Amino acid sequence: MERVMRDFFLFLSKNKPMTKVAKQYGLRFGAARFVAGETVEQAVESIKALNKEGLCVTLDCLGEFIDNEQEAEEMTELCIEAVRAIGVYELDSQLSLKLTSMGLDLSESVVLENMRRIMDVAVENNVFVTIDMEDYERCQKTLDVFTQLKSEYENIGTVIQAYLYRTEGDIEALNAFSPNLRLVKGAYKESPEVAFPEKKDVDENFKKIIKMHLLNGNYTAIATHDDQIINYTKELVKEHNIPSDQFEFQMLYGICAERQHELHREGYKMRVYMPFGTDWYGYFMRRLAERPANVAFVAKGIINK
Ligand code: FDA
Repeated sequence: MERVMRDFFLFLSKNKPMTKVAKQYGLRFGAARFVAGETVEQAVESIKALNKEGLCVTLDCLGEFIDNEQEAEEMTELCIEAVRAIGVYELDSQLSLKLTSMGLDLSESVVLENMRRIMDVAVENNVFVTIDMEDYERCQKTLDVFTQLKSEYENIGTVIQAYLYRTEGDIEALNAFSPNLRLVKGAYKESPEVAFPEKKDVDENFKKIIKMHLLNGNYTAIATHDDQIINYTKELVKEHNIPSDQFEFQMLYGICAERQHELHREGYKMRVYMPFGTDWYGYFMRRLAERPANVAFVAKGIINK
């Protein structure tokens, strides 16, 4: 049943017309639990609140199904505005973005041009930028753009998904760039031809790549709510004397909030991935897919309205 629900919400997350409809109605159906606001101003206030509590942030400009240059240009402007706000208000925040929002599906020259505009402002404002990883179809293209930009800018990283069979090879190949990587389980619906179908295999591969990347001496963001993986990391860094400034934990805004504070109190660096923007529908559907209990939460919200 859980797998059917997961597939259903992942199917909905790819529905472009629904995104357009959802945009017009504002943050609804409980989406505000996972999305910090629709404007940069609202996001700034939410970042300030988390920074005050000792948590760092990576601000994510939500944008999906971008299929023309004008939309990609608008998303680029939004990211630039977000980076400038982080600089102006001296927030403890990085930026996360998706390359499809910057025109990945249009052409390599469009996406590179937009990314360079964002990166130039990010350098000026000393803001680190992480390129999220999307579905398998875009994985190689994303890594190609990342490695190109990494040769031009220091302050850029990307994401590697533990559910893909190719991941171990990617960690090995990327080691040549000493990259700052965010490691995650993976959030998209992928075929068993390219990704481990069983959770236990994904978890094992996750542990394997955490160990590889840390022992290669690279900065590692362990992005998960899974206590088993968090505890594994804590043991690993202790065993290998990995310094506290070589890794951090990351979790999503609105998920396991108490655990985020707990890890911070224990002395670990804790970063919250905070999405904002009007394009919240696809992101929200993926969060529902991850956990059926969230669907009950949404249903309750609708009934209580
Ligand atoms: P798992 O799914 O096993 O969950 C462990 C526990 O965490 C659950 O039992 C539950 O208690 C809690 N939990 C997890 N998800 C929840 C939810 N939605 N609501 C409530 N509780 C929940 N993926 C991707 O493909 N590309 C990317 O770029 C990113 N970026 C990214 C950044 C950050 C900071 C995080 C934390 C995650 C991502 N992801 C991602 C998403 C990631 O791939 C994965 O889908 C989610 O993190 C859920 O997996 P967990 O590792 O938390 O484990």
